[in-house]
Amino acid sequence: MSAPRTVSKEQIQNQYAYIDGIANLLKGRQMRAYTHTFGCQQNEADTERIRGMLYEMGFSMTDTVDDADFILFNTCAVREHAEDRAFGNIGALSHLKKQRPDVIIALCGCMAQQQKNVEKIKKSYPQVNLLFGTHALWRFPSLLYRVLTEKKRVFDIDGEECGEIAEGLPVLREDGAKAWLSIMYGCNNFCTYCIVPYVRGRERSRFPEEIERELHELVAAGYKDITLLGQNVNSYGKDLGLDIDFADLLRRLNDVSGDFLLRFMTSHPKDASPKLFEAMADCPKVARQLHLPFQSGSDDILRRMNRRYTVGEYRRLIACAREKMPDITLSSDIIVGFPGETEEDFEQTLALVRETEFDLLFTFLYSKRSGTPAAEYEDKTPAKVKQERFERLLRTQDEIVARRQAAYQGKRLRVLVDGAAKGPDYPFTARTEGNLLVCVRGEGLQIGQFTEVEIEKTSLRCLFARKR
Ligand code: SAH
Ligand code: SF4
Ligand code: F3S
Repeated sequence: MSAPRTVSKEQIQNQYAYIDGIANLLKGRQMRAYTHTFGCQQNEADTERIRGMLYEMGFSMTDTVDDADFILFNTCAVREHAEDRAFGNIGALSHLKKQRPDVIIALCGCMAQQQKNVEKIKKSYPQVNLLFGTHALWRFPSLLYRVLTEKKRVFDIDGEECGEIAEGLPVLREDGAKAWLSIMYGCNNFCTYCIVPYVRGRERSRFPEEIERELHELVAAGYKDITLLGQNVNSYGKDLGLDIDFADLLRRLNDVSGDFLLRFMTSHPKDASPKLFEAMADCPKVARQLHLPFQSGSDDILRRMNRRYTVGEYRRLIACAREKMPDITLSSDIIVGFPGETEEDFEQTLALVRETEFDLLFTFLYSKRSGTPAAEYEDKTPAKVKQERFERLLRTQDEIVARRQAAYQGKRLRVLVDGAAKGPDYPFTARTEGNLLVCVRGEGLQIGQFTEVEIEKTSLRCLFARKR
């Protein structure tokens, strides 16, 4: 395995020089930046890095496009709907651009990494000044500098096939209790429906000392609920040539001092193992929570998805996790309507859902992504049938969740208060160790604090509790 390619220190310093250059150009002007993220947690983490760079350039952040001097959309390509939304939002900016031609409109992320979209933006969306792909993210300061000084449109998507890792650039996170911490980038799995490997490049892991350093910083800054991110965290370290895998990394991070919880996502069933569950069970700071997408309950569909595990293997993994951590919270992703899915295949998905009783499910209707193998598969199932299956799945899961939520009635739990709730009766939101949503009431509650609560009532989406 080749070692990950880290962007050189000189190149990073060079970007800092551009940050200073932009700060000088904009000196004395009140500049505001607006950012919007369309994609997953990985994309949110990327936006935080761009916000960090913008902040160093002297921008303040705004949450409306109306008073923004710089607008950034960080896009997602995982399903058609995500792409449509991004195009719709960019289209809607043409009016604003006519009124205020100086506003800079930038587009980045997974959708911007695809040549077909780049051509479309070049031709039909003249309001976009800057476009860069996922591999070029660390070069953002130099790209923005060119937009500002050369007064022309800049497009940069020619990232390396394998991408690079950039350490040492600034990050601006939201204040609060939760933070993302990327441990690796990219994906090698090429599930036949999925665009991610094409837009994020091959797997590359950060060095453990870099991850540990960032965790120290997060804990020192007061973050309490930290999620380790990667498309497939279980293959962490395979490209490093060091003697460390994801379970080892968890143990190492668990030793960092401080009162915090570690979560991680996403785990791929083909690489999850009893060793991982042992590490989770042994480490008090690692939340007993597992997001383990199974996508389909049919071996035939799994094979055509190139998932490389069977339903039987998945069942054994769940049994092993529950044996080691009986109170573990489980969630999963499911795709309904993959090309060729029969009623029988779908029934097997329903059966796995009923039998496993997940706490939370993320369900998606299959969306054809051009360039992926599944886009060429024959797909005769009518949309109406797929929709009906989708709704049946939701109903099945709702029944399970109602039962599981009701079982919390009267229980005492430790939760992390993480925000303001909407209703007046329960003014704060909190999360259980398993990441379930709780609305809390009681004296002296504070965001960012762990507290003991008792569950008073439950609904499908939320537990309601009072501080003890
Ligand atoms: N790396 C993660 C998930 C990345 S995408 C993993 O492997 O689990 C998040 C979810 O989107 C996937 O788990 C899958 O359920 C869904 N998804 C991905 N491509 C899709 C497509 N073409 N159509 C519908 N859902 C899709
Ligand atoms: Fe996509 Fe599969 Fe990689 Fe997840 S593991 S990002 S679903 S290719
Ligand atoms: Fe979307 Fe890219 Fe994430 S395609 S789901 S933003 S990795």
